Order: sequence, then structure tokens, then C-alpha cells
Amino acid sequence: MEPAENGLHVGLIMDGNGRWASARGLRRTEGHRRGADAVRRAVEAAPGLGVTTLTLYAFSADNWRRPAAEVSALMGLLESFLVRERAGCRRRGVRLALIGRRDRLSPALIRAIEETERATRGGARLYLRLAVDYSARSAILAAAGDLGPGEPCDERGFLRRVNRACHSDPDTPPVDLVIRTSGEQRLSDFLLFEAAYAELLFTDTLWPDFDGEDLRRAVEVFRRRDRRYGGLARDEGDRAEPTRADLRGSAPGSRRPTTRSSVPQSGVSVGRLTGVRPPAGAPAGPCRSFSRGPG
Ligand code: FPP
Repeated sequence: MEPAENGLHVGLIMDGNGRWASARGLRRTEGHRRGADAVRRAVEAAPGLGVTTLTLYAFSADNWRRPAAEVSALMGLLESFLVRERAGCRRRGVRLALIGRRDRLSPALIRAIEETERATRGGARLYLRLAVDYSARSAILAAAGDLGPGEPCDERGFLRRVNRACHSDPDTPPVDLVIRTSGEQRLSDFLLFEAAYAELLFTDTLWPDFDGEDLRRAVEVFRRRDRRYGGLARDEGDRAEPTRADLRGSAPGSRRPTTRSSVPQSGVSVGRLTGVRPPAGAPAGPCRSFSRGPG
């Protein structure tokens, strides 16, 4: 599938609210409250950075396992965010939608969602999707279950089905960049189909500290990445063409041509995450992806 033609789709896994609060001797719910402020900063910064779709992971289907008081605080924060931000979103051209299940949410929260979706549906600068009670695997399963037996479906058509299955605009483009804060490096059931070719970026910054400048840096790192979609780097097409000597050398037991595409790519490395090559001899391992200060 092609990347978005008219702007970037960024997915944000907002992690680290609890640790941010614990480090300050505060309750976890205070971390979430400050996390909501960071949401506002990201939403304000996104359009100016060429981001036209922003998907924020606010509550996963697995987050119901948290203590009831924390779940209730999170739901309350979501509701007040929707009510409070409604007019501002409308004014700034932000179309807001909730993706995920709705049948386990309170009637008051559903009302707030529906009213905000209605009030902001004309927004054309930014499509803001809040993922709540969301599971990518469930969305994929629902989309697959919706296909009739033997019904043909290509990747683009299936993406539309996945989008529809989680109540998104069916035309929502695939994800270009997934950012996860707090140093954790996993996708946690977030946009698994949509992010098939997304660039991944992990930062140690805890979500409540994330701001517009962090988003700007992340987009800058993204723009330096070489997205090959399984092909070759733009400047490498000619060099990678196998020579006759390469082809002769590819007989069993002989050395294979070592074009970039023939070398198995290992997992993530410090260089790929930062967009900067690691110093020679630098140990592989946990990385800081992009930092707020120099270096
Ligand atoms: C993960 O941090 C964060 C969440 C499960 C909730 C995200 C919610 C917000 C950012 C605030 C409300 C959202 C909106 C859209 C108003 P964590 O609690 O797992 O942190 P930890 O890993 O440090 O414990």
C-alpha cells in the first residue's frame, strides 16, 4: 500500500503517565491528567508539521485490567477532554473520532463522543482519532469475519474494512510513523494492519513531558528515514543490479552478492532509531531514540 499522499498519519502510543507521577510522589491519576495536557499540545502542533491524521492510543481493550479507580479516572478524563476541547477542535479544523468498541463505555461518555464527532465533522486540517477500548487484533478479526466466503479483497479494500470495523473513516490512510514514549518498545495491539510499513520511533520521554518540539523532532527523524517498501534505496537501484560476476558467484557454496537487499536486516539498531549511525563499536541494545537536548 502507498503512503499517505496528502500528509502524514502518525500513531502515538502515549506511555509513561504512571512513572511520571510516581517519580514525583504523585498518584497515577495525576500522571494521566498531565497526560491529557500533553494530548492537547500534540494536537496543536500536528497540523503545522504536515500531520493530517493523528491516532492516539488512549485506552486499550486490555486496559480494563487496571484497578477500577484508575479506569474510572481515565474515562472521566476522556469525557471531560471531549467536552472541553469540542469548540477548540471545531475552530481549528480538527475532526475528532473515537476508534474502538463503544458498547462497554458509559452512556455519558458515548454521548460526549457522539456530540464531539458531530460538532467537528467538517474539520479538514487534522483527523484526530482517539483509540479507546481499542484492539488492533479485534479490528482485523472483525474485518476478516465480515468477508463473505471466497469474496475477493485486496490490501486497500481490507484496510477500508479494518477502518470500518473500528468506526473510523474507511478512507483513513495507512500509518506512516508510530511513536511510543517512555522507553518501552512494543506495539501493544495498536494499528497492526495499518502500520505494516510504518517507521517506528521510540523515545525515553514520558508522555506527560512530551510536547510540540518532541513531535517536531520525531517528524524530522521520520523524514530522514529511507522508506523502501521492500525495494531498494532511491540511489541504489543501479549499484544493486547484479553483475555477471555476481551471478556466476551465486552458485551453491560460493559467496552471494552482498547488495544491500541481499543482506538479511537485523532488528532495530541505535542507528535506525535515531536516524544517526551509531559510533563504531557501539554496543547494540536498548537505545535512546531522540533526545530533547543536544546529543
Ligand atoms: C499509559 O501510561 C497511558 C495510558 C494507559 C492512558 C493514556 C491516557 C492519557 C494520555 C490521558 C487521557 C487521554 C486523553 C485523550 C484525554 P501508563 O499509565 O501505563 O504509565 P506507566 O507505564 O508509567 O505506568
